This record gives sequence, C-alpha cells and structure tokens, in this order.
Amino acid sequence: MSASEKPRAITVRDIRQKKGREPIVCITAYDVLFAKLVDQAGVDLVLVGDSVGNVVAGQPTTLAVTMEQMIYHGAAVVRGVSRAMVVVDMPFMSYQVSTEDALRNAGRIMKETNAHAVKVEGGDADIAARIQAMTRAGIPVMGHLGFTPQSVNTLGGFRVQGRAPGDQERLIEEARRVENAGAYSLVLELVPSGVAQAVTAAVRIPTIGIGAGPDCDGQVLVLYDLLGLNDRFKPKFLQHYAALAADVRSAVGRFADDVRGGRYPDADHSF
Ligand code: KIV
Repeated sequence: MSASEKPRAITVRDIRQKKGREPIVCITAYDVLFAKLVDQAGVDLVLVGDSVGNVVAGQPTTLAVTMEQMIYHGAAVVRGVSRAMVVVDMPFMSYQVSTEDALRNAGRIMKETNAHAVKVEGGDADIAARIQAMTRAGIPVMGHLGFTPQSVNTLGGFRVQGRAPGDQERLIEEARRVENAGAYSLVLELVPSGVAQAVTAAVRIPTIGIGAGPDCDGQVLVLYDLLGLNDRFKPKFLQHYAALAADVRSAVGRFADDVRGGRYPDADHSF
C-alpha cells in the first residue's frame, strides 16, 4: 500500500466473518491521539467505553457518565481512526427507559460522532427490543453480558459472573436473545473461561472477552490498563504490556528537576 492510499475501513461484515477464523482485537480509547496510535497498531475495533468515567474522570462506577461526555469522547476518537471500526458505549439510562429513548440517543451518537456502532449492556427482553429497534434503524449494536458495569449495584459489586448453578444456561439464553435481536457482536466480561467457551459456541456472532478466558472470538482491554498507566490496578485477567506510570513519573520528575535547576529551557529551546 502506498503512503497516500487509505486503508480499507473495517465493517460489521468483517467483524462477523472473523468468528472461528481469526481472533478479533479490540481496545478502548477516549481521545484522538491514543485513537490514532491504536489504529496504527492495527486493532480491529476501538471501543469508546463508558469506562472513561472510571479511567479518565476517577468516578467509582460508570453510572455518572452522560450522553454529552460519550459524544465528546466518541467524536474525538473517530477523528483519530481511519481503519478500525469505532463503537461508542451508550451511557447508563440512555437506553434503559424506553425503545424510543434508545433510538433517539443511539441516533445522536451516530450523527454527532460519526462512529460505526453503539454498545449496550444486558440481555433481557427489554434490551433485546432496544437492540432490534436500533438495528432496524440501521445502527449496528454490540451487546455486553456477564459482568455489566452499569448494573454494578444490582450485581453486588465488581465480581465474576456465571459461577452459580444455572448461570451458564441463563447466559446462553441471553446471548441468543441478543443475537436474535440483531447484535453483530457481544462482549463477555468477567465470566469463567468454560462459561465463555460455551456461550461462544452457542451463538453465530463473535464474542469479545475481557476477563473471560482464551476461548472467546476476540479480546478487549482498557487501553490505560494495558499500558500500565495505573500501576496499582492489576486484576487477575489483566496483562500490563507497558509500565507507563513509572515512565510518566520519571519524565515529569526530570522536567521538574531541570526547571528547578535552571537547565530548562536552555538556548536550544528558546527563541
Ligand atoms: O466501558 C468499557 O471500557 C467496556 C469494556 C471494558 C468492554 O465496556
């Protein structure tokens, strides 16, 4: 490919066709610079997660995240991406109240960010109705089952789901409901590997795991976690692929030393 040629953008069809053939790589991003970098690294999907509330804003949960915030971050990410498919999380209470709300808010996200899809959590009949309406309106939807962060209060905290008797069957039922409603892919969060494997085998759409073992059709991680920007956050499923917290402290510390020692700015960095 020549430098002037734009890479072909990844579509819903590409993601669906990867199931059983090639692992799908998904990563979160919240701003244009990181979006550009992860796109250049060759990921398939960039998720503008409502984890922005925890990761960027320091909120204890995702519940406070608003439509305006998701649109602001979604639009920034889309401006940085030329190849990957960009999915924007629908925030808490933007789709739970009614199908009309879900359609209006998903429509706003698509129009105001230029993203390619939205993601919603849950697998009951109400959520399936929302997914069906959005898909029929031309909006691709990614589902999200297992630990669903917007339900942290009913789930009793940040914990692995699917360990109790009957949980695997319930998750399979929900996954099929989400698939039949029209979702094109499905995040499985914090579920035992065996359960994720069974769910993955039970549906035709690709599953994308986080803390769900190696047998999903793809994997997603929160970018700042993967980069080790929060060195105190190390849940069992997470692998740090860099140690940027130490790098950032060291770089800023050296800047501070240079300023205090009168070494920066020197003649080379002055007009
Ligand atoms: O909000 C988010 O970042 C997510 C991923 C953890 C899947 O939903």
